Amino acid sequence: MNGLALVIGSGGIGTQIAEKLFSTENELDVILCGRKKNNFLNFWEFDIENDNSLENLKNKIHDYPKDLRIVINATGRLHSEKLIPEKRLQHLEKENLLESFSINAIAPILLAKTVEEFIPKDSSFNFASISARVGSIGDNKTGGWYSYRAAKSAQNQLFKSLSIEWSRKFPHAIITLLHPGTVNTNLSKPFQRFVPENKLFSTEKASNLLLNLIKQQKATDTGKFLAWDGSIIPW
Ligand SMILES: NC(=O)c1ccc[n+]([C@@H]2O[C@H](COP(=O)([O-])OP(=O)(O)OC[C@H]3O[C@@H](n4cnc5c(N)ncnc54)[C@H](OP(=O)(O)O)[C@@H]3O)[C@@H](O)[C@H]2O)c1
Repeated sequence: MNGLALVIGSGGIGTQIAEKLFSTENELDVILCGRKKNNFLNFWEFDIENDNSLENLKNKIHDYPKDLRIVINATGRLHSEKLIPEKRLQHLEKENLLESFSINAIAPILLAKTVEEFIPKDSSFNFASISARVGSIGDNKTGGWYSYRAAKSAQNQLFKSLSIEWSRKFPHAIITLLHPGTVNTNLSKPFQRFVPENKLFSTEKASNLLLNLIKQQKATDTGKFLAWDGSIIPW
């Protein structure tokens, strides 16, 4: 595939996805976009929660000599200095709900809004966003993690609606929501002790699985919520 691929989020999974795309897709220009530069060669500074940054991204894509073909959103937040996944109702704080919705639901859909004008009408275009299985309402058996769960559910709903709109406007566009498994990154670090060793994926393994899945999707598959093994996760 010839064109521009943007990987958004320079964390564990995002960086590894960019590396893998870069090493396997010779004709793609792969640019990693995030708040923190790392060793990846092509980097655009980008804050997905900041309106000016979204506008700058639009200008950069506009000026880029190749057509946009792939956008992979690998940003997200489960915990931060103030944000601790809630174990029970009494742990809920308005600020934490807002923080989680800001990064896990609102930012990804505004990213989609930002790139929409660059979607090709007559060739394939992939927009994949990393959600999380815990965002599944049907699969929620243990409760807890109110903010993160609800924000990822909201992300799923927003992109489900978008997949319907885009299938009318852009017949070759494919939206995929992905669960990467439990992956060894900063995001999962505080919770890894409960994860059996064989269920904790390296970023390399998760990225390979996710990229293979993205490649397999056809336009008729748009709007699916898929786990790393290709299985459909209930909404
Ligand atoms: N790891 C897992 O087990 C797991 C499981 C299920 C789903 N996921 C999902 O997978 C995705 C990737 O997570 P990860 O595991 O790779 O975690 P990670 O290493 O913490 O990466 C998350 C990235 O999101 C970036 N980010 C947060 N806010 C941002 C902003 N405003 N602008 C730009 N970048 C921002 C972070 O950048 P900063 O460093 O600048 O904050 C960080 O680089 C997330 O959506 C996560 O919810 C992960």
